[in-house]
Amino acid sequence: MARDGCLARVTAGFAVGGALGGAVGAVYGTYEAVRFKVPGLLKIRYIGQTTLGSAAVFGFLHNRHRFHDWVVELLSTSPSLTIQVNGFLGLSHGICTADPAGLERLLRSNFSNYVKGDRFQSVLCELLGNGIFNVDGELWVAQRKIASHEFKTKSLKCFISDTVQSQLATRLIPYLSSACKNQEVVDLQDVLRRFTFDNICNVAFGVDPAWLGSKNDEQTSLSSSFVRAFDYAVEISSDRFMSPLPVVWKIKRLLNIGSEKQYKEAVRIINDYALNIILSKEQSCQNKDEMEPQDLLSRFVHSSSVLEFHDDDEKRRFLRDIVISFILAGKDSTSTALTWFFWLIAGHPHCERLIYNELAASSPDESPCIFSYDKLKELNYLHAALSESLRLFPPIPINSRLAVSSDTLGNGTHVGKGWFADYSAYAMGRMERLWGADCREFRPERWLDENGVFQPCDQLKFPVFHCGPRMCLGKEMAYVQMKSIAAAIMYEFEVVAVDGGGCPERIVKPPYSLSLLLKMKGGLPVRLKRRKEVTGSLTHTPPPVLRL
Ligand code: HEM
Repeated sequence: MARDGCLARVTAGFAVGGALGGAVGAVYGTYEAVRFKVPGLLKIRYIGQTTLGSAAVFGFLHNRHRFHDWVVELLSTSPSLTIQVNGFLGLSHGICTADPAGLERLLRSNFSNYVKGDRFQSVLCELLGNGIFNVDGELWVAQRKIASHEFKTKSLKCFISDTVQSQLATRLIPYLSSACKNQEVVDLQDVLRRFTFDNICNVAFGVDPAWLGSKNDEQTSLSSSFVRAFDYAVEISSDRFMSPLPVVWKIKRLLNIGSEKQYKEAVRIINDYALNIILSKEQSCQNKDEMEPQDLLSRFVHSSSVLEFHDDDEKRRFLRDIVISFILAGKDSTSTALTWFFWLIAGHPHCERLIYNELAASSPDESPCIFSYDKLKELNYLHAALSESLRLFPPIPINSRLAVSSDTLGNGTHVGKGWFADYSAYAMGRMERLWGADCREFRPERWLDENGVFQPCDQLKFPVFHCGPRMCLGKEMAYVQMKSIAAAIMYEFEVVAVDGGGCPERIVKPPYSLSLLLKMKGGLPVRLKRRKEVTGSLTHTPPPVLRL
């Protein structure tokens, strides 16, 4: 081990490396009872014992509900911000880091050595096929090239922002207005999930499932069965990743029983739905009068004409895989981010006031609360507050790769051939060494310069959207979506969290559930108050002092 003693060594009862579209590498573990000294520096104590059933298992079980915070504690006590993880009975090995220098090697300078590998492919192959999220090498390069070209086009950016804005005006705001009028408690996490799913299906397919607001017809409509099937398939994929004994789901798959049988059915529904849409897109793309393609699928139909396929079926599979990957990417990521954002804002009234003041000063372009793409760019404080929320609650808390050959990270950590290499974005947002003594505070001001202008930070310190050649392609889309939604809701309503929101005392014990995405446990029940009713108090409150 390089830099002897600087790397905390952990024996994991189960090393469950996984990822949702490259997302989670969760390291469940029991901790080896080792103590060692870092020469002249500090003495680190590691808890537990290697054998399951010992106190170590209790340590893990005891921390299961706060798994990510447990990882924070382990990483922050390691001088290299890195721990070594040994799988049950030594069957697997890996490392987990929160160190930007480690990340630099992992995601950038030795990128080709760290792949998604079999672990991803075996879990996600039915749902994602050979889609961008699930593959390495040439298959990935070809898709990345096409997709990143499309994501740079102005026309796609406009299409995305128009789609979000029109659905805000016609669906989300009317839905929340009705809940407000009837004084209902709504689960904001669920509402946002439905809304962003409708959004991403529009952007990806040009099809609107209308999941938000659909009632009885949900049972019958084709779109709704696609929604349910997709949701179910993601849930089962997540269970596969988190399974301590993957052999169990593999046997169930082989025997076609239980959840695996239902999973197969869900994938069939998704495939049929996607195929029908692809066929109709192909037809409309052949039509010479067809307008410039808008949605991603139409764009990919056009741009993939330069690629060579054996037959039409192969081409359709390619299109299906790439578009399904995008739906997966956009499905719950932004809604998860927004849920934590609204929770934090509800617990920090002075930030809420600053955001509202900024919105009021900018004023929406269209009735009642839609901010244009250009206006959104001017909302520096909102941008800072969203980034600060992402720092503390990254939707993808841990990410994982597999080492093709042995390597040494920038901080001296040895990574063996075939080891998994994880980084915890959740832990990185909570490292004093990276963010200072107030790292656990929600303080949007840390992202602003003295003129109140947003200052981006080094991606290696803030890898919420990953970094390097595989960095998230939808980052800009995600910000447009999050800012549009947050601006519209906050301009129109005061959002009151039933539990009081993420005030400073609660931030240290956040209510997350252990899954691939950092979902809020039990949802986010809120009440909405019309702004008009509270505007008086806002206007008369003296502006808070910015702490820079
Ligand atoms: C707050 C919202 C989002 C966050 C935090 C986020 C984060 C991430 C992360 C961490 C990765 C790396 C995954 C990996 O390879 O291990 C990723 C990849 C990706 N994201 Fe996002 N994402 C968000 C929203 C979106 C949206 C809305 C889209 C577009 C529909 C999108 C499209 C993609 C794609 C296509 C990749 C794969 C890139 C590749 O493998 O080359 N993301 N994202």
